Amino acid sequence: MKILLSGGAGFIGSHTYVELINAGHEAVIVDNLYNASEKVLERLAEITGKPVVFCNADVADKAALSAIFAQHQFDAVIHFAGYKAVGESVAKPLEYYRNNLDTTLTLCECMREAGVSRIVFSSSATVYGALDTMPLEETMVSAGCTNPYGWTKYMNERILLDTAAALPGWSVALLRYFNPIGAHESGRIGEDPVGIPNNLMPYITQVASGKRDHLSVFGDDYDTHDGTGVRDYIHVVDLAKGHVAACEYLKDHQGAEIINLGTGTGYSVLDLVNAFQRVNDIEVPYVITDRRPGDIATCYADPTKAKTLLGWQAEKTLEDMCRDSWRWQSGNPNGYRD
Ligand code: WQD
Repeated sequence: MKILLSGGAGFIGSHTYVELINAGHEAVIVDNLYNASEKVLERLAEITGKPVVFCNADVADKAALSAIFAQHQFDAVIHFAGYKAVGESVAKPLEYYRNNLDTTLTLCECMREAGVSRIVFSSSATVYGALDTMPLEETMVSAGCTNPYGWTKYMNERILLDTAAALPGWSVALLRYFNPIGAHESGRIGEDPVGIPNNLMPYITQVASGKRDHLSVFGDDYDTHDGTGVRDYIHVVDLAKGHVAACEYLKDHQGAEIINLGTGTGYSVLDLVNAFQRVNDIEVPYVITDRRPGDIATCYADPTKAKTLLGWQAEKTLEDMCRDSWRWQSGNPNGYRD
């Protein structure tokens, strides 16, 4: 298959690119590099041994995107492009709604005009909101999102569900990510947050590398086994393979499916810190601080549907995630800015 990767230069997109090539597919990356480095393209060529087809464009730019669709005969689209910082979305809701919805609407219009009818969307477990029944299962009704970023994911799911219902022949997979961490085994691509990391693993690796003094553990008074927050961490390479499986599923199926991409196992903040220290034989100093507003105690997936429908399940362990995250960070102390 020939796949368009919107936002394909980012953390998940770049790892998905590698797995698509490994699986014998062709891929074209469309990215405006707002939240990604052009250096990742060199790394992808190095890892795959093939030149990367890259279009520097804003996915919300209809003229630019139409020209790209005219240039290539795509079999499917994987849509990653969008702003993704929860805290930033609270401060800048208009920018988040404008960008995250415009990219999706423009993409769908270009697909319809070009006769491309398969799309995999990068959704998130955040759309479940503050449900406290675990594990989370795709048929559960959202408790309501807790930030504009989450609502843009929710609204994009709605746009794609309604489009699949209205347009004959469309196939849609809405992939709800849990907590992607880790990096490609080469250590040449990985998570490269700009500024102070919002997420746990990049913060841990920056403490381990000496870039940050210590980790703040946001609360140890949750109703969990050790009081710290529990999440379903999934290796980014497993997540990437889930996208390949979803693309191949869409070849033979029409309609829309919502699918969790998680391991089904929850680990606490301290479980992750301790695993990271043990696997990498490196200390990660931390202090317990107040809870982060908006955080929930526990969140992990029921991954049954992905196994049944896609024949996919996560295979990498928490130790693999810690080892691969550190290899990326230690080999690239300033990410792609080295
Ligand atoms: C994980 C745990 C924190 C940082 C977010 C988004 C979600 C998705 C993944 C995009 C929690 C604790 C964290 C730190 C800490 N992103 N923590 N100290 O909040 O589960 O999910 O990222 O789709 O949409 O909401 O991930 O990594 O921020 O937090 O103690 O410095 O680590 O309290 O328990 P989260 P996270």
